[in-house]
Amino acid sequence: MDYLGGGTINPKKITTLRLQEFKETGRKIACLTAYDAIMGKILDEAGIDVILVGDSLGNIVQGHETTLPVTLEDMIYHTKAVVRGAKRPLVIADMPFMTYQVSADEAFRNAGRIMKETGCSAVKLEGCNSIIIKSIERMNEAGIPVMGHVGLTPQSINKFGSYRARGKNPNEAEEIYNQAIELEKAGSFAIVLEKVPKELGQKITEDLKVPTIGIGAGPYCDGQILVYSDMLGLTVDFQPRFVRRYANLYDEIKNAVHNYAEDTRNQIFPNENESY
Ligand code: KIV
Repeated sequence: MDYLGGGTINPKKITTLRLQEFKETGRKIACLTAYDAIMGKILDEAGIDVILVGDSLGNIVQGHETTLPVTLEDMIYHTKAVVRGAKRPLVIADMPFMTYQVSADEAFRNAGRIMKETGCSAVKLEGCNSIIIKSIERMNEAGIPVMGHVGLTPQSINKFGSYRARGKNPNEAEEIYNQAIELEKAGSFAIVLEKVPKELGQKITEDLKVPTIGIGAGPYCDGQILVYSDMLGLTVDFQPRFVRRYANLYDEIKNAVHNYAEDTRNQIFPNENESY
């Protein structure tokens, strides 16, 4: 039994094998992104199973328009921080744009660097082509678990032209389905399905042996992932329908900071008890 009920979480470390067991027993997998140690610790204590150090840090932490400028060094820096904060969750690092597209050799070397230098447990890459398939096979042989990612793949934004949902027409749906099958065959331990119709999410989830993790892919996936700052209401300008807001931290933080600034200016902070 993994989920002990009443909000009690089994403290055993999450591994890729346990994710497979979860799929087989119908126990859904709760995933979020994180980019630093404090969020890693909070997500761990709150019972999140998988933390993805997503290249979405390019948007969230670095303020870029896309994920394309994120470097391997950026990913290594942030993943190290998350690993220091999170003990129970499986921590997965995204491979950033152009660190795995040139050749399987380069992808293999870069994945090795991420694993060796950060202490994370797996890597994720986007899309499916012959180089990616070969890379996944080589990483698997070397003991590097790989998560795939199909549907909307934000590193291809310049090809897609927009962040619209993918797989809404039969040809696109078939392509995404076949990619998921190929990624599983190559040895991926799980596949992210991003922004696809729920029926496609369901079909892929039913036909794959490995877990699917959905983001805007409907309720039938084996797990769900969101960008933590979206679900906590920190990114107020980004409101796609697949995000459910569980807090409104942008306003809460702004109010707290405003109160601190006022107290400082009005000489209310620090008081006698806060002084030595
Ligand atoms: O970079 C990211 O945060 C992701 C998730 C949205 C799946 O790839």
